[in-house]
Amino acid sequence: MCKVMLIGVTFLLCGFVSASATERPVAPNGISLYPDYMSWKVVAPSYREDKGHIRIITGNDTAVAALRSGAKHLPDGSVLAKIAWKAEKNQKFPVATEPGSFVQVEFMVKDAAKYKNTGGWGFARFVGNELKPYGKDAAFSGECFGCHLPVADNDYLFTRIGKTP
Ligand code: HEC
Repeated sequence: MCKVMLIGVTFLLCGFVSASATERPVAPNGISLYPDYMSWKVVAPSYREDKGHIRIITGNDTAVAALRSGAKHLPDGSVLAKIAWKAEKNQKFPVATEPGSFVQVEFMVKDAAKYKNTGGWGFARFVGNELKPYGKDAAFSGECFGCHLPVADNDYLFTRIGKTP
């Protein structure tokens, strides 16, 4: 298809298509990385003591609007991201802890019909600076879902919108 295009635009278009395809890793269940997760709205930060990880949970517009409205179940199209860094002391002010090296980013994607076996949520995790997709095959989602089961009555979500005045 690229070859029949005018020479001038051929390289531009073909180059763009292949670059965007390789920049987005895909989890074994077919969910690809959402590249704009850092520009979504903040749901809340969190800190995991045993791992020493600082996290931020962000959500796309659909997810955050639903959470703000107090909806019990998030609608299809909602996506939440959890971004984790190693917690490190600020070198100039050591009692302040801040994000150090990047650990991973995880996603929960709502599609009630497609992911009906895991509470309507599709799961994906991309690890390290290489953003390596986690899991040997699609069965990895069972691990995610299993740990989110205790919050089944909150649509399988642990995090709530951080309260502000
Ligand atoms: C051992 C338990 C456990 C496992 C396994 C687990 N999670 Fe979570 N997850 C949590 C907890 C607890 C939170 C709350 C925030 C935190 O811990 O920083 C959370 C939060 C999240 C959030 C933010 C929305 C929310 O529920 O608060 C996403 C997205 C997420 N997890 C994705 C995943 C994915 C993808 C996997 C599997 C690859 C996974 N989780 C596996 C315990 C788990």
